[in-house]
Amino acid sequence: MRIIVGITGASGSVYGYTLIRALHELGIETHVVITEMGEKVMQYECGVSLDMIKQYATIHKNNNLFANISSGSFKTDGMVICPCSMNTLGAIANGVGDTLLNRAASVVMKENRKLVIVPRETPLHLIHLKNMTKLAEAGVTIVPAAPGFYHRPTELWELINFMVGRILDMLTIDHELIQRWGEPQ
Ligand SMILES: Cc1cc2nc3c(=O)[nH]c(=O)nc-3n(C[C@H](O)[C@H](O)[C@H](O)COP(=O)(O)O)c2cc1C
Repeated sequence: MRIIVGITGASGSVYGYTLIRALHELGIETHVVITEMGEKVMQYECGVSLDMIKQYATIHKNNNLFANISSGSFKTDGMVICPCSMNTLGAIANGVGDTLLNRAASVVMKENRKLVIVPRETPLHLIHLKNMTKLAEAGVTIVPAAPGFYHRPTELWELINFMVGRILDMLTIDHELIQRWGEPQ
């Protein structure tokens, strides 16, 4: 399998970083593209640099529109944008492909591959909601960065794993990150 992960400047880059490590542990080829603000927020919130991600994935520069993931002829099994800012969400919802991240998302959509967007903002105004609706109508899976509490988490990593596990579910990738409702503990 081959998955693209995009990280933007929304809060919650720990979800994206954990997702990349989980994909690596599952032996899945992962391509990563991070926006300028994505890199800054990830460093600020988690102390994680691009260098730390290099060991888990191939990293592409966001201004390199010549990268393989910029073309539909480069086969992938889908893309996750996690976390996704309202800025990037708006761009993708309106067909903008000016950066590698936006272009890769547009390619995944036009090739009828799986695009999972993990938006993070609160509260949401009407245009955010309309952009999400537009994307959902175009077949994009919207997975809000809003972990459940029904597994009674007591530690932060349990909330993070909940989100990452649900994202992997959307990609139909088997994992053991979450305790599933209705299944024995
Ligand atoms: C610490 C920090 C947290 C932020 N959190 C969010 C957020 O949760 N959602 C959001 O849409 N923007 C958030 N922003 C603003 C985005 O970073 C900003 O809109 C930026 O232009 C997004 O660019 P990008 O889409 O290219 O990553 C945050 C900015 C900072 C500095």
